[in-house]
Amino acid sequence: MFDKEVNMYEQIFTVNKSDRNKLNGHKGKVLWLTGLSGSGKSTIANFLEQILHKKGIKTYILDGDNVRCGLCRDLDFTEVGRIENIRRVTEVAKLMLDAGIVVITAFISPFTNERQIARKSFQDDEFIEIYISTPLEIAEKRDKKGLYKRARCGELRNFTGIDSPYEVPVKAEYTIDTSNQTSQKVAIELANNFKF
Ligand code: ADX
Repeated sequence: MFDKEVNMYEQIFTVNKSDRNKLNGHKGKVLWLTGLSGSGKSTIANFLEQILHKKGIKTYILDGDNVRCGLCRDLDFTEVGRIENIRRVTEVAKLMLDAGIVVITAFISPFTNERQIARKSFQDDEFIEIYISTPLEIAEKRDKKGLYKRARCGELRNFTGIDSPYEVPVKAEYTIDTSNQTSQKVAIELANNFKF
């Protein structure tokens, strides 16, 4: 395949995704967690990875706070910054899926368009969108990082749910509210539902 934009020909290597999946004994997948800061994404991702890891599944978590300290440390929280953040994450997830890994992503990923672009980057059975629908009042009450407090008093701009939008997913495979159930229970139920 030739990419006109960058004048590059795709190199095709002999060992492919299917070979890697066979060696691993399972297929790769992207489990895309989306939701407000404090909704429970990272905690669920952490439990989910432990369960899958114990089953011998090759996993990796791409998490907003971590990725933004490295690969995306040059990006801010404006609309443009968030769009580029999710574009890069989608590209990394594509590479990891090609490597045969079950990728768990934990990003606010507030915009429908970017989540849709991410979804379209994978085959239907490779991408699972999991909306952590915990309401703002609960996420704000938790405020483990103290960021909501800072956003409320104007110290932190463009904070999701305060002065930056979150577009609620309408096509997510799972919608999960962690207000009244533990992240551990949610992770166990999710893990039981996936086929690899
Ligand atoms: S995203 O919108 O681009 O998907 P991402 O998930 O990478 O966001 O990063 C969110 C994390 O960054 C939050 O969990 C929070 O700890 C931190 N953060 C810092 N500033 C903001 C902000 N203005 N809005 C949301 N989260 C912020």
